[in-house]
Amino acid sequence: MPWRNSLPFRISLVFLLTTLLIESVLFMLLYHTLLGERVVEEIDRLESRAESHANVLAMSFDTETISHVAAMESETDTKVAIVAPDHRLIDTSNRFPAVLSTFIRDASDQSAFDQTVVLETDWENKPYLAVRTPIESMDETTRYGYVYMFLPTEIIHGISHRLQLRFLYITAIALIVTALTFILLSRLISNPIQQLRRATENVLTRPGELTLPTSRVDEIGELARSIESMSLELAHLKKERNQFLSDLAHEIKTPLTYLQGYAEIASKPQTPVALKEQSIQTILEESQALTELVENAFQLAQLDENTFTLHKDDILVSQLGDDLTRVLASMFRVTPILFDSRLSMLSDVSLRIDHNRIIQVFRALGHNAIEHSGAAHVTLDGALMKDTITFTLRDDGKGIPEEDLPYIFERLYRVEKSRSRRTGGSGLGLAIAQQIIELHEGSLDVASDRSGTTFTITLPLLTK
Ligand SMILES: Nc1ncnc2c1ncn2[C@@H]1O[C@H](COP(=O)(O)OP(=O)(O)OP(=O)(O)O)[C@@H](O)[C@H]1O
Ligand SMILES: [Mg+2]
Repeated sequence: MPWRNSLPFRISLVFLLTTLLIESVLFMLLYHTLLGERVVEEIDRLESRAESHANVLAMSFDTETISHVAAMESETDTKVAIVAPDHRLIDTSNRFPAVLSTFIRDASDQSAFDQTVVLETDWENKPYLAVRTPIESMDETTRYGYVYMFLPTEIIHGISHRLQLRFLYITAIALIVTALTFILLSRLISNPIQQLRRATENVLTRPGELTLPTSRVDEIGELARSIESMSLELAHLKKERNQFLSDLAHEIKTPLTYLQGYAEIASKPQTPVALKEQSIQTILEESQALTELVENAFQLAQLDENTFTLHKDDILVSQLGDDLTRVLASMFRVTPILFDSRLSMLSDVSLRIDHNRIIQVFRALGHNAIEHSGAAHVTLDGALMKDTITFTLRDDGKGIPEEDLPYIFERLYRVEKSRSRRTGGSGLGLAIAQQIIELHEGSLDVASDRSGTTFTITLPLLTK
């Protein structure tokens, strides 16, 4: 991943931009108020100095006082010029620049002449700030001339430069802090995420070798923990799948061996006719069982892949009850088991189900009662709840041992492991039944003891 797209870089960038934005706003504010105030202050001072010179000169407007004033200003940064009423230069401070003489000439016809005026405030572009004040006698009748005072804007430029320099320092500091933040964030966020990413590459191949920062208390720790449990789950699923495949292969191999054996017997010319017929009968039965097994396995595969399609329709509970009673009764009719249905009282609420699949589930349960329970009686019961309906199929057979009970819904699980194929199925019936019921958002549960087994199916009702 290019570093420009990394999370720490983006966060650092946001951090830098925010810092710079705040800094610039502060700087602009500071720069303008500080410098603005300074300029106003300098101009005030310039005005009052000009006025005090004008007062002194008003009292004695002679060469000595004039040169004294000029000499006084020669010691400072400011420049002074004393001019006659016709704006002719009388005297100036030392090193009086030529630009100022020009300035005075240009200002000779500018603004009011009977009071102190500020002639130049543009400190940014002009070399000097300028004020002018008239020299007048006490009674304001005689005008002796004017005092011009100039302050070089260099001083203010100096302040501005220093401020700008400071701004650059702060920017540099912000950049350094950003770089440090970047490094810190990389350590704190990026590295563990990279580590997580590398670790997750092993999730499927070597789940046992995961090294995740699961002990961290932050979000990364949380992520690590959920990746860890996900990988354990995956490993478990993978193991289960492999187990199922090898069990299935085994299940298929046994009948195939029979088929081959009996086919060989049947094909030998010296085999007596009776044995031949028996062999062919066995071949038929085995191949039927095999077909059933493969069909069941295929159904389970579809259920796993979610490609198992249900064709759900609305059906009345009473209708379903009648169908179940009919189907189960006809299954038990050919057995010595007495079947009893107590579903008649079911009302006319509806269900949305795949009718055939639900019948298939009950068939599987009925089949189990016939094949495995050894019961004398089987009872089908039903109870309506507020928004569910519960069916129970109870037999009074030998029950399922407690230690096997938790596993009977697992694939290929049979209580009597050594049971021959012809006396029972392959152990897929309940696994399929449970998945079908779950696809209907219902539940399939079992309870069993020595007095018999009860399967309970709960399905959601259609809410009106
Ligand atoms: N009513 C019952 N009474 C006693 N044991 C039962 C009953 N129902 C199920 N079992 C036990 O549970 C096991 C699993 O049942 P399941 O229907 O999944 O498989 P199966 O009947 O052996 O084979 P299949 O249904 O695939 O033909 C059975 O092998 C049987 O040992
Ligand atoms: Mg079964």
